[in-house]
Amino acid sequence: MKMTESDTITQVGPGTPMGSLLRSYWVPVLRSAKLEVGQAPVRFRMFGEDYIAFRGADGSVGVLDEACPHRGASLALANIEDNCVRCIYHGWKIDTAGKLVEAPTHPLTAKLDKIPTGGHPSYDDAGMVWAWLGVGEAPPRPVFAFSGLPESQVISATGVVRANWVQMLEGLWDTFHAQILHNRANRSTFGETARMANYYSNVAPPGSSIAYDFPELSVESTDYGFAYRSSDDLKDLNYAWIMPWYVHHTVGPNPLDDKAVQIHVPIDDDHTLFWQLMYNRHVPFEPDGYARRSFPAFADLNEFRSEFTPENGWRQDREAMAEGRSFTGIADGRGALQILVEDIAIAEGQGHLDRSKENLGATDRVVTRGRKALLQAALDFERGEPAFGLRADVSAVEAVFEPKVHS
Ligand code: FES
Ligand SMILES: [Fe+2]
Repeated sequence: MKMTESDTITQVGPGTPMGSLLRSYWVPVLRSAKLEVGQAPVRFRMFGEDYIAFRGADGSVGVLDEACPHRGASLALANIEDNCVRCIYHGWKIDTAGKLVEAPTHPLTAKLDKIPTGGHPSYDDAGMVWAWLGVGEAPPRPVFAFSGLPESQVISATGVVRANWVQMLEGLWDTFHAQILHNRANRSTFGETARMANYYSNVAPPGSSIAYDFPELSVESTDYGFAYRSSDDLKDLNYAWIMPWYVHHTVGPNPLDDKAVQIHVPIDDDHTLFWQLMYNRHVPFEPDGYARRSFPAFADLNEFRSEFTPENGWRQDREAMAEGRSFTGIADGRGALQILVEDIAIAEGQGHLDRSKENLGATDRVVTRGRKALLQAALDFERGEPAFGLRADVSAVEAVFEPKVHS
């Protein structure tokens, strides 16, 4: 991919083609549990701009530009009063709906409703705070397969990754890497379960010391993004990429199993908010289901990866690798967390990816298609076309694992 095209899909700041497009969609900005009544506003960054979120006394959520609309003091420093933040500089008071209710700098007769406040529409759903950061009128709230589920049926963890959001997404389009990078992690996490019996080949191709299946990949365009499939001797894995940053990925062959979604929202050009979400539309999570088994490995659901950083080499254990106990040496024995940290180490290790220097193979087919789809969506939007996929019905879109071999 040319550098200019790569820049178009990766750069998200104000006024960029992709940045403008992405601001059209509702954004999952932080876990609902991070906002508690009466607690300090929480600062966050999205698309290279700074915001705060807070919870009002009635439980409602407020999302505002971090800079106070009066003279730019940080509203992260503000007091919380009822359902409002009150700036500590001159006392402007703004409620969770973004309405300016008091401004001591103005006479009592002043018309405050004419003053823009930097407030953004927001709400809680599925344990996530959703905000709309665009200009004009917000589109309808999105409805996903996990929307509206109670706490017993949906759980998520977040982490900040020091890599561009497209790099994280590419890792999800590139399904093949799971057979190599996550091979050991999956085997140790899932043991001889139905999932494993159908998941990995135990046979190394001639001349290789690694057992894997060479998959056949296919992609089918949809009104929300695309559906993609990886097929090999053991299984068909059906994934869905929903514009712009959602991927439903398969977990196991049982249709009643917990399901998984990964979301990669750009914080800025070099940082991504990584959401790992699990849900079950049918029943509350079972103790031995994927979600309950996965999340105990996460020390902090608000920042799951903080223990593994580029500075500490993602705690790669070279000794375990040399002794053949581990293939990646990363987060060994940490269950599902291992898989996520392995992905993060790859993306952060890539650094600022130069897509013009790659040598792509047959297994990179979906990656290429995804990049093209993002580029097309950004250019179309710049030309005045509607945001791709924004109004598609995705309420029934899920990943499906179809085993060919029954255990
Ligand atoms: S800067 Fe916030 S009230 Fe003046
Ligand atoms: Fe991965």
